[in-house]
Amino acid sequence: MKILIFGGGGFIGSHLLVSLTRDNEHDIVAYDIDFSKYNRLNRDMGKVKLIRGNIRKEDNANLKQLVSSNDLIIDLLAYANPSIYVSEPCEVVRLNLFDNLRIVEACVEFGRYVIQFSSCEVYGMAGGSTEPFSEDRSNLLLGPIEKHRWIYSCAKQMLERIIHAYGLKQGLNYTIIRPFNFVGPEMDYILERGDEGIPRVFPQFMSAILFNRDIKLVDGGRNFRTFTYIDDSIDAIKIIIRNIDHICNRKIINIGTPENEIRICDLATLMMQIFEKITGRKANCHTTIVSGEEFYGKGYQDCDRRIPDIGRLMALGWRPRYQLKDLLELSIRYYVNMYSNRIGL
Ligand code: NAD
Ligand code: UGA
Repeated sequence: MKILIFGGGGFIGSHLLVSLTRDNEHDIVAYDIDFSKYNRLNRDMGKVKLIRGNIRKEDNANLKQLVSSNDLIIDLLAYANPSIYVSEPCEVVRLNLFDNLRIVEACVEFGRYVIQFSSCEVYGMAGGSTEPFSEDRSNLLLGPIEKHRWIYSCAKQMLERIIHAYGLKQGLNYTIIRPFNFVGPEMDYILERGDEGIPRVFPQFMSAILFNRDIKLVDGGRNFRTFTYIDDSIDAIKIIIRNIDHICNRKIINIGTPENEIRICDLATLMMQIFEKITGRKANCHTTIVSGEEFYGKGYQDCDRRIPDIGRLMALGWRPRYQLKDLLELSIRYYVNMYSNRIGL
């Protein structure tokens, strides 16, 4: 099969590229503005065609040519970072909805299968619910418009609904994936100086631990997340790729690990403990409490809990292999090795 991966240079995309090229079962083309993560992760130099391009500037003829010359399109392109939802809400809609829609519409025109990455954020605010989020049964609950953090969720949800409609009306074949907080090497970026923006929580805490800065707990770090190791995530994505022709067609699928739930303040403590275990050195950082608006800016709002229902994925034979402590240890070890000289180890 010929597979085209948009966003193939990102965190998930790079791991997927490395794994698919190692399997050597398909012809792979990857499109991204930046492949530095892939270049750091790829040791085998597997066979893959890399296209460096900016989707925002790609004309429709080129886009259609790319889509029509492949069988399966995997679309990972997005701004996927809450600080950007708050600082650049219009850009989030342009890329995450309108540019992704151009890809989807090319798939409709040429009858190509699309695996579209959506997000667990479409479920919005659980409101303290203990019910796992189900692909077909859960309601999608967002906060008020002035809390524009939800623009990402809303753009992703709109794209899902359009894809669903194209499936109903024009026979589009697709699978929508909703990831729940994947973690692993090369997620976002490490804050080397400390002032280079706001990555997601794992790289934020990792940066603070490596460079002896304060860990900031947003609203006291009282909210929960469930984390999934990137290798488990890639296994799940590959199972979905293998099943596109039947079980996964026109389905939404959660990928997550319900057992790996932790409160964010406890994640900070656990990461410091694991750092100490790996290096034999105490993490020299303190935790401070900040409000969501202080940290991200006006318009931030958070969800307190999100637990995936993974029955659909488990029915395909997937089981997560990595427990929270193990996945954190693997991820922290990667960065300790990467920065060992700089941190004097
Ligand atoms: P990422 O930011 O690492 O990857 C996105 C990629 O898109 C990046 O490599 C970036 O360079 C590329 N990109 C952005 N703008 C571009 C442009 N104009 N032209 C070309 N390339 C451009 O994010 P990720 O964590 O790998 O997430 C991938 C997808 O999965 C996203 O759609 C995200 O919303 C979704 N998702 C991820 C998670 C997670 O846990 N990582 C959770 C929920 C949803
Ligand atoms: C993320 C992003 O929206 C997407 O990448 C993705 O769609 C999805 O969720 C996911 O990864 O599954 P969120 O989980 O809120 O959203 O993103 P993080 O930045 O990783 O924050 C997790 C929690 O940690 C939030 O409660 C946040 O307020 C808190 N946090 C984050 C801190 O307390 N301190 C920090 O320094 C950073």
